[in-house]
Amino acid sequence: MSTLAPLPSRPTRRPLAPQTVQEQQSRLVSLALLLILTGPGALMLAGLLAAFVQADRTQRRARWCALLGLAGLAVIAFRWRHLEATLTSLTRTTQPLLGYLQPSLITPPSPAALPALFHQSWPDVMHLWLTMLLLAPLLALYLQNTRVKTAEDRERERLARDTARDQRALQRAQHQCATAPDAAGGSLVLGVPLGGDLAWSHGAWFTYPAANLGRHLVLIGASNTGKTETSKRLAYGAARTYGWRVFYLDCKGDEATAAEFTRAMHTAGIAHVAHFPTTTYDGWRGDSTAILNRLLAVLDYTEPYYRDMTKLLLSLAVDAPPGPPRSSEELLARLRLEHLLTLYRGHPEAQELTGLRKEDAQAAANRYRSFFRALRGGLDGRWAFEDVAAGYLLLKGLELRDQTASLGRYLLEDFAHYVAVRKPPDERVLLIIDEFPAIAVGGANAATLFEMVRFRGAGVIVTAQSYAGMGSDADRILGAAGGVILHQCADPERLLPRAGLQVSFQRRISVAERGMGRGVKEYALGEGSLAVQDSLKIHPDMVKRLQPGECVVIAGGAAQHIRVSRVRPPRRSPRPPRPAAPPVTPPLITDGIALDDATRQRCRTVAARRMPPRSSPAVPDPTPDAAFTPTPDPAPPPPRAGGPTPPPEAAAPAPGLAAPPSLPRPADPGGSDIAEY
Ligand SMILES: Nc1ncnc2c1ncn2[C@@H]1O[C@H](COP(=O)(O)OP(=O)(O)O)[C@@H](O)[C@H]1O
Ligand SMILES: [Mg+2]
Repeated sequence: MSTLAPLPSRPTRRPLAPQTVQEQQSRLVSLALLLILTGPGALMLAGLLAAFVQADRTQRRARWCALLGLAGLAVIAFRWRHLEATLTSLTRTTQPLLGYLQPSLITPPSPAALPALFHQSWPDVMHLWLTMLLLAPLLALYLQNTRVKTAEDRERERLARDTARDQRALQRAQHQCATAPDAAGGSLVLGVPLGGDLAWSHGAWFTYPAANLGRHLVLIGASNTGKTETSKRLAYGAARTYGWRVFYLDCKGDEATAAEFTRAMHTAGIAHVAHFPTTTYDGWRGDSTAILNRLLAVLDYTEPYYRDMTKLLLSLAVDAPPGPPRSSEELLARLRLEHLLTLYRGHPEAQELTGLRKEDAQAAANRYRSFFRALRGGLDGRWAFEDVAAGYLLLKGLELRDQTASLGRYLLEDFAHYVAVRKPPDERVLLIIDEFPAIAVGGANAATLFEMVRFRGAGVIVTAQSYAGMGSDADRILGAAGGVILHQCADPERLLPRAGLQVSFQRRISVAERGMGRGVKEYALGEGSLAVQDSLKIHPDMVKRLQPGECVVIAGGAAQHIRVSRVRPPRRSPRPPRPAAPPVTPPLITDGIALDDATRQRCRTVAARRMPPRSSPAVPDPTPDAAFTPTPDPAPPPPRAGGPTPPPEAAAPAPGLAAPPSLPRPADPGGSDIAEY
């Protein structure tokens, strides 16, 4: 015996709404009349055209149909005399038939006379029906618009209308983006608003306020969806409108991104953009604690024992007399126990050194050796964050790929030290970390770091391909973020609640079924209800369907859908730029950056204060390395409209831009503790 429960009986069908029945009846009557008046040919052609028009959601076919119908109407009007004669003749020959309707007035013809009557009127009927073929397109529109629609048909039509409206708005925004100004209402313009409740728009432009850019911002989107373009626009605005210094830490980029960023900064009025690794970086500024923090960020340890050993060795190495190491060679030399013992001879720390096992020290030193060897002096250069108004740091291209993350963390630590100690408190700076997951090892550390720099006037933008890609501490990083920008991505669900909920009205329509088997159709009964409910302001599907350059900006429980405007090179000045004045003094740094006088002077002062005489082994002056693919310095900045190109030496920042770093800055405040600047 079957254990399956019997199938439930089909529900009895609900009756059709009186309106629907009436609509159907009147349509049948009108179709019958049309059949007589226009003939089966015109009606069939109209039916085919109606199906053709209905298959098109853009209404373009409907417009063509209307145009054809009007043309047919014009032809009929042109030949009206012929049609009038036909109609007069037809009325005359068929007049006896009216006797069936009004026998008291007209004698109806006998049935035997009907064939002759039909024969007589047939040529006129044929002429009329052939003429009516010209009106088939208009008939098609009539048929299509008077079709009794199912509830689903109506809903689909509504959706199609909404989609078409959104498409038109998007196209308009795309064109509008090309004319976006740099700023509106004192804030940088990011693009064109397309809808939402985040009220950062000024007129027709969506802006990103400085206060929000100063908090960290997370930018998420799949590959090729526009993250880098959006970051560049924000970088451009930060430099041009807010006068901030801007640094771009590119964890996965390429030389093309480097060139584009440099061009954007030139457009913003910054003449010289430092480029790492083409120009080697000075990663040895600060006191021994700062250097120790940087070095500890380089390696990951699974065993606390090895971490402690390495930390002890490193702290002894950086604290050794005569002062902190100022180059990788100097550090690596100090990581040899015998050398360290020589440096500490006569000091109490010499006792601590005896507690270190030789093989542990060797293992730790080897790891740092391979890191610095892969860099080939890349961190022994002369520029650092405080020396330039903008810089691009490309982490890719190292000989040892797995050192990329270590280098990224080293530079991030140095940035934190720069913000906390080397930067004047009133100076603002923006750091963009493109493809952050490539260097993220501990999200919690990153979140703490971002928060720390925020309070000292630095904004950080991190980009990632997905929420999951941010790692296990994504929530902590996102939790402290002042804003989130979502480009098209596959997993926006976890992020959209940040935009908040909205009250939505859900329409419920009563429907009735009619038909048999698979032919059952539903008809709106004309009755319905509205349900009020809370729903996400931004539907996940909307984010999954965003086009490149479109994004959703979320901040403070509100969101805005926008089209991002790309950074455009400035229009060429009609006047040729004046020839650059010859430099008064040769640049201090010759490997890729030319510094202005004030910066050069400051560098000398800072260097004199900061650097104690280098202890052995002597480090040769850094030169651009073979380990990196050198990038030729980008073309000189295009002249601003109406203005000459400033000579490289005398290049002054544009009004409102970060002035050259002021003189002099404390390099070694001393006394700070690890991870606490
Ligand atoms: N705002 C925008 N306007 C027009 N096109 C864009 C915009 N942003 C991105 N794109 C297009 O998308 C491509 C990929 O953009 P990109 O910023 O490099 O993506 P991602 O960094 O997410 O991989 C660009 O080369 C460009 O063609
Ligand atoms: Mg990118």
